[in-house]
Amino acid sequence: MTAPWTYIKDLPSREGKEVVIRGWLYNMRSSGKIHFLQLRDGTGTVQGVMVKKEVSEENFAEAKGLWLEASVEVAGTVRKDDRAPSGVELTVSSVSVIQNPSEEYPIGKKDHGIDFLLDHRHLWLRSPRQQAILKIREAVIWSAREFLRNDGYMLVDSPIISGAAGEGASGLFELDYFDSKAYLAQTGQLYAEAAAAAFGKVYTLGPTFRAEKSKTRRHLTEFWMLEPEVAFFDHEANMDLQERLICHIVAYALEHCRRELEFLERDISKLEAVKAPFPHLQYDEAIEMLKKLGSDTPYGSDLGNDDETILTKEFDRPVFIENYPKKIKAFYMKEHPENPDLVLCDDLLAPEGYGEIIGGSQREDSYDRLLARIREEKLPEEAYDWYLDLRKYGTFVHSGFGMGIERVVAWIAGLQHIREAIPWPRTIYRVKP
Ligand code: 4AD
Ligand code: MG
Repeated sequence: MTAPWTYIKDLPSREGKEVVIRGWLYNMRSSGKIHFLQLRDGTGTVQGVMVKKEVSEENFAEAKGLWLEASVEVAGTVRKDDRAPSGVELTVSSVSVIQNPSEEYPIGKKDHGIDFLLDHRHLWLRSPRQQAILKIREAVIWSAREFLRNDGYMLVDSPIISGAAGEGASGLFELDYFDSKAYLAQTGQLYAEAAAAAFGKVYTLGPTFRAEKSKTRRHLTEFWMLEPEVAFFDHEANMDLQERLICHIVAYALEHCRRELEFLERDISKLEAVKAPFPHLQYDEAIEMLKKLGSDTPYGSDLGNDDETILTKEFDRPVFIENYPKKIKAFYMKEHPENPDLVLCDDLLAPEGYGEIIGGSQREDSYDRLLARIREEKLPEEAYDWYLDLRKYGTFVHSGFGMGIERVVAWIAGLQHIREAIPWPRTIYRVKP
């Protein structure tokens, strides 16, 4: 009888037992009498020790001829090994080769340039660093969904193909849609607003698209956004939800991704500092503060990437910037009751120079004012008739926000560039692989 197929993560509980593992050879050292096979199977890594005199001669020779990333089935006995990170190693009894590559694996130990690595993204995903990052990504998404579901939010999916721009006409990906034109969604928000009138507390989660020509470390052309939308929440309640959500995500990552964060050499104390309450700045206070920090961004302009970087280096936790001028924000934001030049909105900026991770607002709930804003912005009125209906049939105070998944992952994982925070990054110059 052959030993049972066992995942590497489960080996510590199988000490002394015979097992079979299925995976890939990610490294090998050999002394002539012993091969040290570094094996991985997606759940972990383990060292297989293959001693010449304990296995068949052919099998020992065959193992010696393996290239990196050969797929293998390895039988052996689990042994305690205090030096191993998992506390165990495998005494190999046989290696059965599923496929041995006919050439050297392209990603070696040497430093490859970023373009080479991105061209080989399909293989780069196998590296421990990329695995750590994508595990953190999964934890961010999972914990956000768990938090929202436990708080009574319902996931209501929004479409990716749409007839209307969500965030203004620039940066739209247009596509031929039979005899007309359609667009890739920039946001699911407008649909989430309709869903909030049906279900009260909702969120959407999906890919969103921006044909932005920004070549920064914060911009992708395809990124994932989580967008809660809440009936009868005002601007204040909206920011409170953002604060609770971010605290939950960071606490979850600290609890469940400790190994990954340590592997990435993330300064954990910086994440431990992320606790409510987050500081708040009004837009004009942010501009004043930036001036003192040496920025020349004038009142009335949006904060640039560099502004966000220098500003957030001043804080040890995320900071809200509230109530921007109407002119630089989207058409659907509600006018500030005390100042018609401002809107009730917030950007939440992550510390350590990371910058905007969330953009949110209270929505314009007056039919007349919303229509006036659509006209002012010269948006195609007919595309928004259904959206205006929400203000015609039982309008309601409501608010919501969009959290950029990759921005949050880049911050939590401590990445220099957002492109590693998504399995298949899409940027101006890259749609492959
Ligand atoms: O601030 P934004 O543009 O807001 C909206 O789209 C709203 N409709 C959301 C809502 O209220 N439901 O985008 C929200 C977030 C940003 O804070 C940022 O984290 C992320 O989405 N984001 C990007 N991430 C990566 N690449 C890009 N090009 C991004 N653009 C926005
Ligand atoms: Mg924004």
